[in-house]
Amino acid sequence: IVKTEQLYEGKAKKVFATNDPDLVIVDYKDDATAFNGEKKGTIVGKGAINNKMTNYMFKLLEKEGIPTHLVEEISDRETIVKKVEIVPLEVIVRNVAAGSFSKKLGIEEGTKLKQPTLEFSYKCDELGDPFINKYYALGLGLATEEEIEDITKYAFKVNEFMLGFFKNIGIDLIDFKIEFGRFHGKILLADEISPDTCRFWDSKTHEKLDKDRFRRDMGGVEEAYHEMIKRVMGE
Ligand code: C5P
Repeated sequence: IVKTEQLYEGKAKKVFATNDPDLVIVDYKDDATAFNGEKKGTIVGKGAINNKMTNYMFKLLEKEGIPTHLVEEISDRETIVKKVEIVPLEVIVRNVAAGSFSKKLGIEEGTKLKQPTLEFSYKCDELGDPFINKYYALGLGLATEEEIEDITKYAFKVNEFMLGFFKNIGIDLIDFKIEFGRFHGKILLADEISPDTCRFWDSKTHEKLDKDRFRRDMGGVEEAYHEMIKRVMGE
């Protein structure tokens, strides 16, 4: 597989074409943004950590029966993935109240939910990724009924698996965001699973080990990312 022209540059990743029309290469950056790009910074080492953690989780999730876009990690920061058409939905699953959920509903951060929740945002930078429901997604033609069904089923299955996986390494999985793509008519888990896209709290100390340290200027950002990759991969 040969890397050719850059197709896209996002906030945290670049995507390159390859000589195979079905494959692209993602290149993870150390750039960090928050609040729809208003806050910018760098988290040294983040690109490599997010690349490794995503691939590690995607491999485990494949074994659990969740199809993903992963093909092969080719360097610290680069991975070959299937060239999907991203479904423009941010799929957020929550186990514990935090972030926008706490703010919107006036529920203290850290309040355990009676059951996991699922929500959709319409992926659109200009609009600031507005909250929508399934009927909006269908009405706007963002996905079909069958696709939404698959996405919902996979999202809860990802949560179920990850809750147990992280519990085993002393981490409470508070919430996370995932994205899906279409590949030859099938829905695949795409994008990433990393401290950029999940809330990870130490089970004992409740210390935050994720991007909230950057969003909220808490310090110890790099240390938190390193701690998470160490626990996940046992290095
Ligand atoms: O901000 P909010 O509470 O809605 O975030 C819920 C979860 O989704 C968090 O784990 C956050 O890291 C993730 N998220 C994300 N990208 C966004 C919005 C939220 O990864 N654009």
